[in-house]
Amino acid sequence: MSQRVLTTESGAPVADNQNSATAGAGGPLLLQDQHLLEKLARFNRERIPERVVHARGSGAYGHFEVTDDVTEFTYADFLSTVGRRTEVFVRFSTVADSLGGADAVRDPRGFAVKFYTEEGNYDLVGNNTPVFFIKDPIKFPDFIHSQKRDPFTGRQEPDNVWDFWAHSPEATHQVTWLMGDRGIPASYRHMNGYGSHTYQWTNSAGEAFFVKYHFKTNQGIRCLSAEQAAETVGRDANSHQTDLLQAVERGVRPSWTLYVQLMPAAEADGYRFNPFDLTKVWPHQDYPLRRVGRLVLDRNPDNVFAEVEQAAFSPNNFVPGIGPSPDKMLQGRLFAYADAHRYRLGVNHTQLAVNAPKATTARNYGRDGLMASNAQGRAAKNYEPNSYDGPAETGRPLSAPLAVAGHTGTHAAPPHTKDDDFFQAGELYRLMSAEEKSRLIANIAGGLSQVSRDDVIDKNLAHFHAADPEYGRRVAEAVRALRED
Ligand code: HEM
Repeated sequence: MSQRVLTTESGAPVADNQNSATAGAGGPLLLQDQHLLEKLARFNRERIPERVVHARGSGAYGHFEVTDDVTEFTYADFLSTVGRRTEVFVRFSTVADSLGGADAVRDPRGFAVKFYTEEGNYDLVGNNTPVFFIKDPIKFPDFIHSQKRDPFTGRQEPDNVWDFWAHSPEATHQVTWLMGDRGIPASYRHMNGYGSHTYQWTNSAGEAFFVKYHFKTNQGIRCLSAEQAAETVGRDANSHQTDLLQAVERGVRPSWTLYVQLMPAAEADGYRFNPFDLTKVWPHQDYPLRRVGRLVLDRNPDNVFAEVEQAAFSPNNFVPGIGPSPDKMLQGRLFAYADAHRYRLGVNHTQLAVNAPKATTARNYGRDGLMASNAQGRAAKNYEPNSYDGPAETGRPLSAPLAVAGHTGTHAAPPHTKDDDFFQAGELYRLMSAEEKSRLIANIAGGLSQVSRDDVIDKNLAHFHAADPEYGRRVAEAVRALRED
């Protein structure tokens, strides 16, 4: 049969794709019209649940190339040789809105990288901000509920957004970041990416280091003001998608340079604040940036649904030499993502082309399940240990063991000398130029002045005041002026 013949799902030729079969020229439809039934039924099943967060996103393929020797700190194979290239898939995203939301909005951006290494896929699922709003995963569902649409009004509500922050002083640093200039990137190409969490690297001698990842954009940082963003959304709601798609199609090859901060594991306990607290950065004077390599994007996916919508990143996809730190938020995420994928995509999501290993193959005894396609050879046993040379464990831990101490229970925070929720927010404020500070104040006041309860406004003002008295005073004045209007 010619390649140009339209067929049913089972490959039979279709006679008529414009007229349904009827009983007589003006009569009702016939149940025997297989093509019509199949076409309508398939259409009804085109949507799957969207991601509960980061629903709207864009993706591209490329590679990561090692430019500097980091073998002193990790034995990760894909980082072991200068010049080594590893294929990657990157998905960028907004966080709060649904799949149909606009791109140019004030929101953190997701920056998720899947490295297809020879030792399995390594997923670094980060954001464009080095910190986050909360530091315990138990607060995440409440946090996201407060930022997404209200179940009664169906709208994003300033009352909910700011009420959550009123009860979460630890959010002050990230709120200052989000309301500042970097809160609305001009495009995905013009922003940095951060692993945000502290992770662990282990070298071949078994020594452990804590590590933070920074992808610095080589396109330069570009942001939109609130006014420019509103105009952009009106012109092209998909502005980030348009930009990435067209840049990669034009052969522009957007790139980022990866740096890391490294802390010898023994220094963690005595550091002046908790180095596993996701609401804080490590000052570069304490732990300078070391260059590792370059991330380059050069190929668009062939199909957005198959490759971007069905992409499944999980922070617990590690490779030997890289592992988790005790960061509570990270530990929560180690569960949440693969669970979300099993719900959204099914138990065999790892067999989809974008998610399957590319530089190696998965060899294990997991079998069957909905939509299984991983037939592993006729004689392959489905149990282990076995006497038939089936795949077996290496006996080598993926990362160095960490010592733990203390009692089980719910603990607010480990003791460190300087661990308040405000000092880094104050430092960020004081770093800003006079113009940046004015825009920050105006952005915060624009949102906070819409809140209906005075006590919620006052609690938020107290947080900005605790970060820096001038910061608090100026936000208070700006909110008052807007509410008196
Ligand atoms: C997506 C949970 C914190 C970055 C998601 C998804 C869930 C989730 C369930 C949807 C996954 C899917 O359906 O594919 C959580 C929980 C968190 C947390 C429980 C806190 C405990 C964070 C943090 C970051 C982050 C701190 C960044 C540092 C992302 C990104 C995506 C995502 C980039 C989109 C991945 C993609 O492009 O497919 N998160 N998240 N999340 N999250 Fe988180």
